Amino acid sequence: MSSENDTTTSTASGPESNGADAPSGEDTLSVVDNRTGRSYEIPIVDGTVRALDFRAIRVAEDDFGLMTYDPAFMNTAACRSSITYLDGTNGVLEYRGYPIEQLADKSTYLEVAYLLVYGELPTAAQLADWQHKITIHTFVHENIKEFMGGFRHDAHPMGMLLGATGALSTFYPDANDIDDAENRDIQTVRLISKMPTLAAFAYRHVQGQPYVYPDNDLSYSGNFLNMMYKMTELKYEPDPRLERALDVLFILHADHEQNCSTSAVRSIGSAKPDPYSAVAGGIAALYGPLHGGANESVLRMLRRIKHRDNIPDFVKGVKEGKQRLMGFGHRVYKNYDPRARLIKKAAEDVFEVTGRNPLLDLALELEQIALEDEYFIERKLYPNVDFYSGLIYEALRLPVAMFPVMFAIGRTSGWIAQWREMVEDSEQKISRPRQIYTGERNRDYVPIDQR
Ligand code: CMC
Repeated sequence: MSSENDTTTSTASGPESNGADAPSGEDTLSVVDNRTGRSYEIPIVDGTVRALDFRAIRVAEDDFGLMTYDPAFMNTAACRSSITYLDGTNGVLEYRGYPIEQLADKSTYLEVAYLLVYGELPTAAQLADWQHKITIHTFVHENIKEFMGGFRHDAHPMGMLLGATGALSTFYPDANDIDDAENRDIQTVRLISKMPTLAAFAYRHVQGQPYVYPDNDLSYSGNFLNMMYKMTELKYEPDPRLERALDVLFILHADHEQNCSTSAVRSIGSAKPDPYSAVAGGIAALYGPLHGGANESVLRMLRRIKHRDNIPDFVKGVKEGKQRLMGFGHRVYKNYDPRARLIKKAAEDVFEVTGRNPLLDLALELEQIALEDEYFIERKLYPNVDFYSGLIYEALRLPVAMFPVMFAIGRTSGWIAQWREMVEDSEQKISRPRQIYTGERNRDYVPIDQR
């Protein structure tokens, strides 16, 4: 493009640029640097410009070049991915192209995990093999039990899960060989199969109950219920309705493209440690109340509100910025989170078995009021996945501290699928953002007695 004060026109893809050659015609962005009067043509590929292309925009030869500033990655794609498609404006979520509604209705968590990891729905033989592998890897080394035993009686189970997952790396030192595809497959199976065992051990530890070993006759979710709730009975028989509801919850939580914890897994993984260490980082991120900890906060919030008469006051407080309506709002969804709709339905199924949770009525009323309120409408704040999931977990008699742990079990397949995609992506390098330095420069050290 030429402009009136234009002196030079360059293609902004210098030696440091990863940019593709500038596509001819309209697929470029014309930029005029008013500091120099120069124009640049920046290629647009997939509706995106490459930040590195801007580095060619300089005021002098020795200038570092233009950077882009994007705190919290509000508008920056950090990878190419073919795992999860999300359209936040229209409330669409697909794993490998399959709508979440169909997967939640027809599939199982293990089948979805296979889909996320390998990109295709398995054949019957592939699924049988996958289920077998996951089932025979559910046991953990006996020393993990002692490791768990070292936590205080009131330790948060998410902290225990995070510590125990990191500890797994010391049991599988071979996992460091991340460039070997077969090795990645083995660690993938171990992570998905052992996560429910670690989660259940964390729960039993807090309850002061003996750990229950996995039962290989049961399904993934059925076995998890067994490890959580088996007491003196010789054989634990999970209620199939609860087993299915749990499986659906795991499916709905399995992946959500580049969310905070997945970005943490990718960022840590880019330094090439073993996947247990990377996934432990994901669990740490998920622990936070703005991410996977939100379901815990929703339950605490509903208990604090206590009665429908208190809702208007609570909502007023939210609008005055005193508190957030937990379980509402999302960085990407500016519409009803499709997972929330499916979870609301799963909640009804669970309550058929467990009896209705009175907090559900409170949640329904709160949702209704919020959805009709100008504050929430203007900001496009809708219920997210965490608004109703906590009610199901509570019906399963889980303490609130276990809620993010449940999220972590489901998300493990997504983390590992994203980690594998990152490792196999030749465009990826160690993650290393830039900064705009705002501090002092060139100060002389002052001895302590002169300060
Ligand atoms: N309650 C009240 N106001 C809110 C809420 C909320 N839950 N969420 C956002 N807002 C307001 C916010 O105050 C801001 O208003 P203003 O423009 O007047 O300053 C506006 O909406 C935009 O909010 P934001 O904080 O800039 O949005 P974000 O994209 O940075 O935050 C979020 C996304 C999920 C962190 C946020 O909506 C939130 O804190 N929600 C509650 C926590 C929660 O439910 N988290 C679970 C997310 S889904 C599960 C997951 O993927 O982890």
